[in-house]
Amino acid sequence: MSKIIYHGHSFVELHIKEYTIYIDPFISENLPYISGNPLCDIKLEDAKCNYIILTHGHADHFGSTMDLAKTSELTVIATAELADYLGARDVRNHAMNIGGAYQFPFGKVKLTLAHHSSSTPDGTYAGDPAGILIHTADKTIFHAGDTALFYDMKLIGETNKIDYAFLPIGDNFTMGIDDAVKAAEYLNADSVIPIHYNTFDVIKADANDFKRKIESIGRKCYIMKPGEKLSL
Ligand code: NI
Ligand code: MN
Repeated sequence: MSKIIYHGHSFVELHIKEYTIYIDPFISENLPYISGNPLCDIKLEDAKCNYIILTHGHADHFGSTMDLAKTSELTVIATAELADYLGARDVRNHAMNIGGAYQFPFGKVKLTLAHHSSSTPDGTYAGDPAGILIHTADKTIFHAGDTALFYDMKLIGETNKIDYAFLPIGDNFTMGIDDAVKAAEYLNADSVIPIHYNTFDVIKADANDFKRKIESIGRKCYIMKPGEKLSL
């Protein structure tokens, strides 16, 4: 049985088969370049995973990757430049790039476009940002990362049957509510979970407003509180 746990901001934990996968592990503890994730419900010392998938290098996504890599036998999946940055710091990694898919033991991962920027917390160029498609035995999960609305989301929706889409709604750095509703429509996602909002004042958004708008286009919306689980 697969399950998803949300930890606030864009940090999503997946349990697929015997594997634990963290997407964008932005944890509460103070980080060198950014204060922590105030919404995160877990502590660094309790965090443990087999894989980290990074959408891009920004501090609120790269998060505690270096600390986690020190304490767990994990592999970080990321775009080539970000993977190289990790490799140079002795972190086991698997480099990919936009449009490519690879079969991992837990499922098939494909990186998609994201219209955003990407550098590591210390300012190193980190290649293109990405969205993530994960195909498990029976479900497809999409994590959009940080992105603007773009029309090619329609292509992602046409070529994948997305069961759960994690979409940023906080505006300012990414899509806001109305663009994310349009994204859900283009992606043809069955269920949508809002992310990347209310972590900081500048990305405050009303998730209930988003939920109403998503339901008005005939789709499901789950507003997940940090720590909340969803069984797949
Ligand atoms: Ni970003
Ligand atoms: Mn971000």
